[in-house]
Amino acid sequence: MTFHGGPDGGPEPRYDFSSNANALGPNPVLLAAMRRADLSRYPDPSYGALREVLAAHHRVPAESVVPGSGASELIHRLARLRRGPVLTLEPTFGEYAGAARAAGVRHLAARTPAEFLDLLDEAAVAFLAQPNNPTGEVWGDAFVREAAGRAARRGAGLVFDLAYAPLAEVPVSVPEGAYRLYAPNKAHGLTGVRAGYLIAPSENLAARLVRAAPSWVIGAAEVAFLRTQAGTGARNWLRGTLPTLFAWRRRLAGLLRERGYAVQEGAANFIMARLGEDAAAFLRARGLRVRPLADKGLPDWARLSAQPPKALAALAAALEERA
Ligand SMILES: Cc1ncc(COP(=O)(O)O)c(C=O)c1O
Repeated sequence: MTFHGGPDGGPEPRYDFSSNANALGPNPVLLAAMRRADLSRYPDPSYGALREVLAAHHRVPAESVVPGSGASELIHRLARLRRGPVLTLEPTFGEYAGAARAAGVRHLAARTPAEFLDLLDEAAVAFLAQPNNPTGEVWGDAFVREAAGRAARRGAGLVFDLAYAPLAEVPVSVPEGAYRLYAPNKAHGLTGVRAGYLIAPSENLAARLVRAAPSWVIGAAEVAFLRTQAGTGARNWLRGTLPTLFAWRRRLAGLLRERGYAVQEGAANFIMARLGEDAAAFLRARGLRVRPLADKGLPDWARLSAQPPKALAALAAALEERA
């Protein structure tokens, strides 16, 4: 069963707070670019032109850019290739642990930044979501620099997952020498598009990751998506949505706090709230979907994304009924 916007066996929810995709999407600039893509031909299997465009956008060599079939696929590729323990800072995105399982390597789950730093000594690859999912927390400068220093000394790969960085209210810090993972489908409200990319700290590491991919990992529409999201038209659309998303997030947090629920409001377009263990099922039966966090060791908590006023009104009405 999936909880982040995929089918869960029930009828389509009227209001979906469970997906962190930009609720003002899909980005029309990207939709138009994908419609123009020539689907009658194979894409270039080396993705040369795409890598050039992404490299110019990030001011890195094209040889350090690795396109993938979504950030999740790249997370799995990294875990497979590094062939050693995968370290995470919990609670966080579950695909890192899933990739460790799939690769048959140990999963080291730190609960605090200090523990994460200690466990870096044992890790082959470590993931930090910046900002984190589901907490919305942005890891501070001192911690990320310390983590990068230790990882470099120990030869561990440190990966900053920047899936929510374009949806963060504050700039996020990423040190030199780390992998940077991009998953633009969330910020542009297009999670049905399976395309992401990684910037590796060296061309040699990138080449190994590229070689580990099956051919044609992404199709022509995804190539158009990744190229175009780096352009000003797509980015301007995204920038224009942020004030509304943050206002909706604040209203959502306020609505829940007013009703006595504990809320953790991070920097991105979603929050965590202590709605109680039965809340997800209760709300689902009323056409609203939230993301329960029991699988992350937080049985009372749920994650909810910023949604428009109509959805907030429906949530408020359902919670009144529950009270
Ligand atoms: C932190 C984080 N990284 C990556 C992903 C997945 O990205 P993609 O859709 O590109 O596989 C998610 C999806 O929920 C996420 O929360």
